[in-house]
Amino acid sequence: MDKKELAKIVGDVRAQNSIFSDKSFLDNLAVPNSIIGRESESKKLVKFLLSYEKGLVVPLVSIYGRSGSGKSTIVQFVCKNLDVDFCYVNLRKAKTVFGCINLILSELGHENLKNAQGVSNAFVILEKLILQTLEKSNNSLFVLCLDEFDTLFYDKRGKPSDFVYKLVVLVEKLRALKKHMCIVTISNKVLSEFNLDDRVISRVGTSEIYFDSYSQSDVLKIIRNRAKKSFLKKIDDDVLQHCAYISSEEHGDARRAIDLLRTSGEIAGIENKNISKKHVDEAVSQLQKNQITTIISGGSYHFRLACAALSWLTYVNDEGWHSTSELFKQYQKIISSDTRQISYRRFSEMLVELVNSGIAVSKTESKGRHGYGSQFKLSVDPDLIGNSCFPDWWPSVVESKKRKDDALRSMKALKSLSFGRRRSRFGNLYRNLGL
Ligand SMILES: Nc1ncnc2c1ncn2[C@@H]1O[C@H](COP(=O)(O)OP(=O)(O)OP(=O)(O)O)[C@@H](O)[C@H]1O
Ligand SMILES: [Mg+2]
Repeated sequence: MDKKELAKIVGDVRAQNSIFSDKSFLDNLAVPNSIIGRESESKKLVKFLLSYEKGLVVPLVSIYGRSGSGKSTIVQFVCKNLDVDFCYVNLRKAKTVFGCINLILSELGHENLKNAQGVSNAFVILEKLILQTLEKSNNSLFVLCLDEFDTLFYDKRGKPSDFVYKLVVLVEKLRALKKHMCIVTISNKVLSEFNLDDRVISRVGTSEIYFDSYSQSDVLKIIRNRAKKSFLKKIDDDVLQHCAYISSEEHGDARRAIDLLRTSGEIAGIENKNISKKHVDEAVSQLQKNQITTIISGGSYHFRLACAALSWLTYVNDEGWHSTSELFKQYQKIISSDTRQISYRRFSEMLVELVNSGIAVSKTESKGRHGYGSQFKLSVDPDLIGNSCFPDWWPSVVESKKRKDDALRSMKALKSLSFGRRRSRFGNLYRNLGL
């Protein structure tokens, strides 16, 4: 890249940003200064937390609900605005249980521990740090917020249930010292879906708060508020309604709506125009493309093969639904000969991962006396998936499909002609075939 090219990039970025007055209001990671709605969920959380003032706080509150329903935001907003100490960590940043402990310790200003120093030692340090924090602030409640709590359970060897048990025991220890602690777990799943053992379940009780998905009008209120603060000019309400509609098609997702609004603004900025519905539609496909690229680049070779098998069958055969066995056969055909195949069972699990990542949808169908089987259908353009998975291979699939379609069209045209006209039009072909 030379200076001229860099100057062009700078110019493009400035153009993208030209219609915003303050983009920070469209930042999905920042906690906003004001919350729209969610009074009932906030009230439940405040009620659970403030019961420490009367001497007893529940050890664990489980917050759960669909993606983009405001869980992380509301928990942080409430904790920030109460007279309590709190530590918020997103466990997605930690790959193991020990990594999670280190994340908490580092949030409290402690250096990382080595695995060899052990979990018990880490808990002694954690207790000390919590007591120090409470002493310094003169508060009596410490809230430990564990966001994306489910990631803890991917570490099967690290005994996640033991870790939660140790935290609950810590809550009990602090209570004996007249200090309070409450663990707030945040996840898309309800607590009973986690593999927690009985000694944990009997101690934590059932203090749960469910975050229902937003309705389309809730989403609209949230983005109307953000649009007012982040753009130089007023955005048409029709455009905001279109954003809210698209972000609520599956379930009301405030994050998706905010992302959509920001990306539409960037696209409109490049064209030096006000945002229109057309920019929103362009933003949808741009965001989908980015999302697919991220999912696929983070997937294993076999995951990409499973995606490619489904894309191949969809694209080449022009058919939507495909069974697990059809897909497995296609996977076996395209896997490179020097790579070991995964088992049929592992492959079916991979298809479920495909559905969970939003790339495909599934349905169960009766196979008569053979019971029931799953069918899968791509929910995105096969060309986009094929190109993202194997950019060197996919163009050859497109080329051979084109040849097949051309040949089919010629066959159809041929069939529709009389024998004489066929002979005159396709004389060479007929002669070559000896007709
Ligand atoms: N009630 C609300 N008022 C204002 N902004 C909101 C509200 N709810 C959500 N948002 C905004 O929507 C975005 C997504 O919210 P958040 O990250 O809290 O969702 P989540 O439920 O934690 O999703 P996930 O399960 O995917 O982590 C954030 O930018 C947040 O600021
Ligand atoms: Mg969240």
